[in-house]
Amino acid sequence: MAKLTVRDINARGKRVFVRVDYNVPLEEKDGKMVITDETRIVETLPTLKLLIEQGGKLILAAHLGRPKGKREPSMSLRPVGERLADLLGRPVAFVDDCIGEKVEKTAGVLQPGDVLLLENVRYYKEEEENDPAFAEKLARVADIYVNDAFGAAHRAHASTEGVARVVAKRGGQCAAGLLMERELKFLGEELENPARPFVVILGGAKVSDKIQVIDRLLDKADTILIGGAMAYTFRLAQGYSTGKSLIEPDKTDVAKAALQKAKKKGVKFLLPTDDVIAEPIKTDKLDKKGKPVIDYQNVRTNTDPNCPDNAAGLDIGPATVKKYSEEVATAKTILWNGPMGLFEDKRFAEGTFAVARAVADVTQKNGAKSIIGGGDSVKALNKAKLGDKVTFMSTGGGASLEFLEGKELAGVAALTERN
Ligand code: 3PG
Ligand code: MG
Repeated sequence: MAKLTVRDINARGKRVFVRVDYNVPLEEKDGKMVITDETRIVETLPTLKLLIEQGGKLILAAHLGRPKGKREPSMSLRPVGERLADLLGRPVAFVDDCIGEKVEKTAGVLQPGDVLLLENVRYYKEEEENDPAFAEKLARVADIYVNDAFGAAHRAHASTEGVARVVAKRGGQCAAGLLMERELKFLGEELENPARPFVVILGGAKVSDKIQVIDRLLDKADTILIGGAMAYTFRLAQGYSTGKSLIEPDKTDVAKAALQKAKKKGVKFLLPTDDVIAEPIKTDKLDKKGKPVIDYQNVRTNTDPNCPDNAAGLDIGPATVKKYSEEVATAKTILWNGPMGLFEDKRFAEGTFAVARAVADVTQKNGAKSIIGGGDSVKALNKAKLGDKVTFMSTGGGASLEFLEGKELAGVAALTERN
């Protein structure tokens, strides 16, 4: 790795400012906020344990949700601190602020191996603005900066980027944590020269989210399998009708360009040949975001490339499942990002789960390397209880996508070069 990592530093007696991504899902239960998926906390433990072993004084900073510069009590990191203490098996101090006197005082009395978690950095609007004065304030408790927040590394915010610049300017070290290192290894180096066949599975709602990733992977992959609603923008580009399926009509040119590039490069680029469709009916009920809940009626398999006017495509069909599973079974390297359908509804989950099983199988039986690019595909694998049967699951959503697009992540760029 081109950047300094926590393995290269000696934190003994130093105050180590560690940026972690503890942006975990929380749910209110009996008036208490409860963490519903603690993966992102668990994944930072190796870094924290190593720094504790080195005798560093740990000051952890993170964001939670998008409070937009306000003190939103439901987005406090306090419950995360409690859970972290359980997982670490040692006390984790908590200060209800991330800058100021109280923080500096508490950080000042830390002993080697002590851990302090600061309150949500996004309670200040200066965090997302990457305000230099705010970064200076955060940096007051930092002798060394460590970034283990891969999931937030695409953000050039004060705690992910600004503090590193301040520490570096003073001649301090800025290092990647072990999780950050692993993420960059699997999503980066491992895909540079993949063992072949290299099969890429891409799904999700929008072509626009994935177009740069598709373009880049067309230079590397042997096979690309397309699923999810974005398949319908491809169908539209091919002149088929798409009914009420989610489409991006202004992205058909992009879809056509991808199909042409695949042909030119000799990449096998597969679209679903059948799908599961249903008629969407708006109900009076509202979901968590205040949008009407859609009821799906008359669920059925469709083998016509055209979708009826009153129906929407919601999952890949059985023939596509079979074909995609066969392709996956031949792979030596797999990258998967995005579900094949609306898997949260079990009537539309089979495509995603079948692909998950195929990926897990080829990993376990043939020693293929399977890399899951974060977000919904990770959720789906965990739901199918196959999370531990793949090689690597990213903790990043947007960050993984940007990294797979070939972009430099702001939080990584700010770290010290290793020489
Ligand atoms: C995430 O959950 O994607 C990261 O923690 C970044 O959060 P953000 O999208 O609110 O910047
Ligand atoms: Mg995000």
